[in-house]
Amino acid sequence: MGQQNGREQWTSKLGFILAAAGSAVGLGNIWRFSYVAGEQGGAAFLFIYLIAIALIGYPLMATEMVIGRKTQKNPIGAFSALAPNTPWWLVGALGVLSGFVILSFYSVVAGWAMHYTVLAATGFSSTADYVDVFLGHITSTWVPLIWHAIFMALTVGIIAAGVVKGIQRTVRLLMPLLFLLLVALVVRGLTLPGSGAGVAFFLTPDFSAVTARTFLTAVGQSFFTLSLGMGALITYGSYLKQDENISDNAGWVVGLDTLVAVIAGFAIFPAVFALGFDPASGAGLAFMTLPAVFAEMPAGLFFGFMFFLLLSVAALTSAISLLEVVVAWVIDEKGWSRAKAAITVGSVIFLVGIPPVLGFSTLSHITFLGFDILDTYDFITGVVMLPLGGLLTCIFVGYVWRASNATKEINNPRGIINFGGWYNILISVVIPVAIAVVLVMGLYDVVSAHYGW
Ligand code: TRP
Repeated sequence: MGQQNGREQWTSKLGFILAAAGSAVGLGNIWRFSYVAGEQGGAAFLFIYLIAIALIGYPLMATEMVIGRKTQKNPIGAFSALAPNTPWWLVGALGVLSGFVILSFYSVVAGWAMHYTVLAATGFSSTADYVDVFLGHITSTWVPLIWHAIFMALTVGIIAAGVVKGIQRTVRLLMPLLFLLLVALVVRGLTLPGSGAGVAFFLTPDFSAVTARTFLTAVGQSFFTLSLGMGALITYGSYLKQDENISDNAGWVVGLDTLVAVIAGFAIFPAVFALGFDPASGAGLAFMTLPAVFAEMPAGLFFGFMFFLLLSVAALTSAISLLEVVVAWVIDEKGWSRAKAAITVGSVIFLVGIPPVLGFSTLSHITFLGFDILDTYDFITGVVMLPLGGLLTCIFVGYVWRASNATKEINNPRGIINFGGWYNILISVVIPVAIAVVLVMGLYDVVSAHYGW
């Protein structure tokens, strides 16, 4: 059965793992991971990132999932249920708000990916200047706006169809496709003559390239890529049956997400090096460097099409988790029908996403700390709201709900991995301290760079 007290539930363990992995695997793994790793020295970054994933990402993911499964509620309802008549529900509210803002700009970038999928299918010209192509696209106002609308409409359609018929059915179809596309792209990248330099860049750490910023970036990336800090996994966990183990499921999701990021690195860097491009070209790597790489490789158009389709599919399975957080709250608290909630919330998010689109054209004079509007949304959520949400969640579990209660729930039923006293130390001391340091240093870093301190 797909229902429990009127609340939908995943009908299989695989359905839940794929949905959570679909949330985790997104633009963060391919677009963001590749440019960040490219800028921060490749293998050295990868090494620190893997430690952050294991030490912070994995325990936090299990924590969010267990809060959801225990309470069977949206993030706001979940915190109120565990600590009634306290202000802790505000942590959930911060999450719902983050979901709103993240999806509004995420959908804009996903729209670029869809536009590029069509461009690749209809022919990238090998003589084009891809920097101009990209800048031409994002400054063209209407085209990106229409793709943003199309992407939001798809996301709304899936969420309106429900947890099982919408989310679960979509991820069962799209996640295997995603893996197939990725494998094809790795084989293409690794078989290009000269690809060895890219593999070396990705596997030979140069620790002299490591600075404080590398750590900040690695922790920030582990939050974003695992969908942590805003209750996405609380929401997905709330549709999980009581007899499903948490620690193993979280392990699967973290493992799949990390695997995709690493494989994406193996698909991208060998190709970038084989064709003599610069891996440290920043946020434009996927949209400006890769089209040029594809244009020059044999059967490049076809692989370019596959790459941007992969990016669009990965973005869609993540976007549905962002919308579901807000929609679950509206359904639970306001009693609206799922369709009405999805359409209303999706429309408002579309509107909130208009300024980031116009930030590259009509509104380009509006900046914050030197960021354009899209980067401002990204910065405020990624650098401030998500880490803050994660930090408060740790403090809540460590000192209010108690790590022993969380551990009991996580280990019930027992899995292959079981949590012990180490979890208490991680969740109440190590992780919150690490996040606090990253939060303060990250903010200082950006503000000081802007004012030239
Ligand atoms: N994890 C996704 C990615 O890597 C993005 C994402 C989906 C997300 N849901 C989230 C990020 C919730 C933070 C919080 O692209």
